[in-house]
Amino acid sequence: MTVLTRTGERRLDGPVLRHPLGVYPEYRADPLTLFYDNALAYGGSVRLRLAHQQVHLLVEPEHIEQVLVTHAERYEKGISYRSLNYLLGPGLLTSGGELWKRQRALIKPAFARRHVETEIPLMVECAQRMRTRLDARAADGEAFDLVPEVMGFAADVVCRAVLGADLDGVLPQIEDDVRQGVSWVMQHMSAPIQIPPELPTPGNRRLHRARRRLHQVVDEVIGKHRHTEGDTHSLLARLLAARDDTGHAMDDEQLRHEVLTFLLAGHETTGGALAWTIYELCRNPAVLDRVRAEIDAYPDALDDPEVVRAALPTLEYTGRAIDEAMRLHPPAWAFSRTALETDHFDRFDLAPGAIVVISPFVNQRLPQFWDSPLTYDPDRFTKERNRARPPFRYFPFGWGAHLCVGQHMALIEIRVGLAMLLSRYDIELVNGMRVRENPEISNIPDPVMIRLSRREHVAAQEA
Ligand code: HEM
Repeated sequence: MTVLTRTGERRLDGPVLRHPLGVYPEYRADPLTLFYDNALAYGGSVRLRLAHQQVHLLVEPEHIEQVLVTHAERYEKGISYRSLNYLLGPGLLTSGGELWKRQRALIKPAFARRHVETEIPLMVECAQRMRTRLDARAADGEAFDLVPEVMGFAADVVCRAVLGADLDGVLPQIEDDVRQGVSWVMQHMSAPIQIPPELPTPGNRRLHRARRRLHQVVDEVIGKHRHTEGDTHSLLARLLAARDDTGHAMDDEQLRHEVLTFLLAGHETTGGALAWTIYELCRNPAVLDRVRAEIDAYPDALDDPEVVRAALPTLEYTGRAIDEAMRLHPPAWAFSRTALETDHFDRFDLAPGAIVVISPFVNQRLPQFWDSPLTYDPDRFTKERNRARPPFRYFPFGWGAHLCVGQHMALIEIRVGLAMLLSRYDIELVNGMRVRENPEISNIPDPVMIRLSRREHVAAQEA
């Protein structure tokens, strides 16, 4: 429905609110439910007041298409990216305009599938390290939270893929500093009044320390790569070699922004997707059996990177199970844009400065777009059904010019991690519990309590 203001502006409809902070208390408590329930109640796009800001949650495919595709140049990355910018600097995720365009052209080829596939041996090694840790868990038989384990795997992969293999001494510190940075960004992003990062509050001081250490490590690795002592297969090596049409290369400062961006953007998102997939498989034994049947076609060789490389294209149903987990639980649950100029839609207008939120979580669960939307069913993602699906129903990696550059890397990594876990362990979800969605920068399950045991044939082989 359209609402006309006293000045004749056409506005999106939204709830009338008595609380001075609007729906901000609900947003702090559970943003996913707030967005989803309002999209349901208003049957589509809706306006919500969060403290002093009006937020336009766009749901209807033609509204989203206008913002992300047809009028994309009228928008810039939104407010949620400002806090990230403070941590990362103007890298691909947070920059706009000419800088973003130039960087996108330089960076995208480095993430091409053929390059990412050269990282499979590294992913297999990281999964082996995760299995060594998990073997100890399986031996003691106690229940534990799976989430930190798969997050550790994802951090291991992204740090080594981006910076090179030789990181053993500093990896835990990098992980810890990235986590501190993420937690600051989360606080800063969702505060009704944002405290300037320069003020010496305890939280800001922690951020500055983490940021300083991250800069130091990343600058050292860049320095080594410049003097060709670094790993020549790393993503950083590809970025150092990248040139645009005019022969321009990235300087060290820009490289640092980009490297930090990849460490952050490629860590919790991918770990979250793997954790959610395992959770859904444990709750859906018939699906798990079909996934296992594919993986068990390689009974004792999923330790060999060459076998894994050959196996990946055959894990077709497994891929569907991952796609479906990312439908119900998209790690990037929402992203934002700010209007740079006036934009007219079918039943409302946006003024310069208007805040737009687009939520894969909402669109991927709405009953007008999906049958039985809350049921986990990987067969929604057969090739035929993918081809027949209209746009803006499913977009866990975004859409348009800003489509995630790490998509191939993430999807390969999740399949490698999943296959190597399921080929070795039986996983029991403790008490069959329901897990809470935990929408921070990424939507991470909180917690996934499991018990592990080595599978019978693995135990027999190793006896
Ligand atoms: C399951 C894992 C992942 C998910 C769900 C995901 C999701 C997304 C989404 C939704 C966007 C678009 C944001 C927007 O339009 O505002 C995006 C952008 C981006 N992602 Fe990912 N991502 C994942 C993994 C990765 C990885 C592994 C990397 C790199 C190592 C990465 C790097 C980036 C970058 C640099 C952008 C900005 C692209 C641009 O604006 O040009 N992501 N991602």
